[in-house]
Amino acid sequence: MEIISSEIQAKEVLRNYNDIVLVPTMGNLHDGHISLVNKAKELGKTIVSSIFVNPLQFGFNEDFDSYPRTLENDLEQLERAGSHFVFHPSEDILEDIKKRKASSLSRKMCGKIRPEHFDGVVTIVGKLFEVVRPQFAVFGLKDYQQFLIIKNLITLSDFEIEIIGSPIVREQDGLAMSSRNNLLTHDNRLLAPEIYKILNWIKDNISEKSNENLIKESTELLQTKGLTPEYLKICDPDTLEDLNHFSGRSLIAIAIKLGDVRLIDNILID
Ligand code: PAF
Repeated sequence: MEIISSEIQAKEVLRNYNDIVLVPTMGNLHDGHISLVNKAKELGKTIVSSIFVNPLQFGFNEDFDSYPRTLENDLEQLERAGSHFVFHPSEDILEDIKKRKASSLSRKMCGKIRPEHFDGVVTIVGKLFEVVRPQFAVFGLKDYQQFLIIKNLITLSDFEIEIIGSPIVREQDGLAMSSRNNLLTHDNRLLAPEIYKILNWIKDNISEKSNENLIKESTELLQTKGLTPEYLKICDPDTLEDLNHFSGRSLIAIAIKLGDVRLIDNILID
């Protein structure tokens, strides 16, 4: 596995590859990330994973400084998983970067609480696309809204890239894997599986009750456990518009803060 540490080096080294699958990450890798590399491996192409903790996507009082940085361990995991290259640029990559605006989907769900987050995401992902020039890019479906917004970025900016969504990987107790799980206190870690439980409760009852009642009752259930979601929604998986009744495809999505740690999760009914 070769490590590439600058934009110039990336352009030079990757120049002759026209079959690249990009797996963008911010490091602090866990089995969820490795599943993205495994998804990339299914294509039998050249895998370039990237590690960059992107300051542009963190809000003013968010956790950029405390975001875990575990480079050595990340590199070992990527090598073992079969990544061919790792692109790990310094913050120089942000110099003269083309600032991009995320599509209007960025104003919904997480965008209401993190207004500039998705602009930061599309700015760095656009840059990675330009530098690495992949044919495919793999993103986790835990960040479902991010997945849709990057899909829009590809279409609106005429990138010739096929985006691949990779299923959520969960801990044994159902908690969706996330680098932020390590930051939970002991007590909040014990509470965290309630997130997936409530999504499943909604899924199991979705054809029985109106969506309004499902949201109301599930929010009350969470509140009895001391949990108040930032949002809990049943919406159209393409437009993220709220749905009133179950009519087939639906996304059940939640964001919730446990202490200082913000977690998101979803179930897609397809
Ligand atoms: O999903 C992430 O880890 C990040 O948002 C990404 C796509 C690597 C961009 O920084």
